[in-house]
Amino acid sequence: MDILNKYKNSKVLVTGGAGFIGSHLVEKLLSLGAHVSVIDTMLCGNKIEHLMDNKNLSVHRLDVTDRGSIEPFFKDREIVFHLAAVVGVEETQHEPLEVLNVEIIGTLNVIALAAKNKARRFVFASSSEVYGDTVKPMVETGPFNPKSTYALTKMVGEHYCRAYYQKHSLEYTLLRYFNTYGPRQDDRFVISRFMDRASKGKEIFIYGDGNQTRDFTYVEDSVHMTLLTAAGDKGINQAFNIGTGKAVSINKLAEIILKTLGVTDKVKASHIDYDNIRSREIEIFNRLANIDKIVKLFQYRPETALESGIKKYTEWYRNRK
Ligand SMILES: NC(=O)c1ccc[n+]([C@@H]2O[C@H](COP(=O)([O-])OP(=O)(O)OC[C@H]3O[C@@H](n4cnc5c(N)ncnc54)[C@H](O)[C@@H]3O)[C@@H](O)[C@H]2O)c1
Repeated sequence: MDILNKYKNSKVLVTGGAGFIGSHLVEKLLSLGAHVSVIDTMLCGNKIEHLMDNKNLSVHRLDVTDRGSIEPFFKDREIVFHLAAVVGVEETQHEPLEVLNVEIIGTLNVIALAAKNKARRFVFASSSEVYGDTVKPMVETGPFNPKSTYALTKMVGEHYCRAYYQKHSLEYTLLRYFNTYGPRQDDRFVISRFMDRASKGKEIFIYGDGNQTRDFTYVEDSVHMTLLTAAGDKGINQAFNIGTGKAVSINKLAEIILKTLGVTDKVKASHIDYDNIRSREIEIFNRLANIDKIVKLFQYRPETALESGIKKYTEWYRNRK
């Protein structure tokens, strides 16, 4: 049996479901026959606008920091995917108190309500940021060296998951996403920012020497790994790297984007110093997932190479309304 058939007729809750990854997760869950509730403030827009007529979807414009208002929507939910968070380098660096509020108080509210309502699984969107800088591919067992408030809050969220399992037997899955990209991502992030500027013929800016590396993961692959690990018993009380196992430098990324857009000769890629938007102190210079665990347990390898992911993203970008 395809493990994803388990979602048919299941009742799930997705916090942050109107965001980038959340919107793809909700879309896929609905296509698998799940009944989906979403809680999201939608302060950055509603990326599930196109799904609002689906009778298996209910959407609640609410804030996870307000426990009383979100409580009714946890009733009978079997799986809670907790993705709501303040994200983006600028936001998380300049609004540390808001990050603490949403990522810690909000996470505590969501996990407590999932436990109270006896959810079968709590799926926590953590981040590769928990590892900090290392020269080696990052493995789920660490070492951990969080460098920012955002990274610290993700570690705290992971600890809450372990604590709620010990105290309330709430089973959890921790997902450490490495840079996910694709349609509907907004231009706070490097691929969408390069795409936005380069497609308008504007110069693109690369922080530092551009040799810093990232493990870019196409959103369909990230969502597939999310669903696999959350459905199967093998994912219970486990952490997984959600990446591809391949690293690419920002210089190379810029080259691929300019080539895909056909603007290599027209758009300049310039190097700039770190600044007060992106500081050198919290920069992670090397980021690469070791994905042996997910490959071994679920026999799944991300399918989309960076070049084809950028191509798909470009097509979406050009056709978007
Ligand atoms: N995109 C990535 O590469 C990446 C990498 C590592 C971790 N993550 C994690 O994955 C999750 C989803 O990220 P994303 O890229 O889709 O970001 P996103 O900003 O597109 O989505 C986050 C959503 O959470 C919502 N939200 C924020 N505060 C809220 C609150 N107080 N109450 C309810 N909703 C609230 C936002 O409105 C938004 O729709 C986040 O937890 C993020 O930390 C993402």
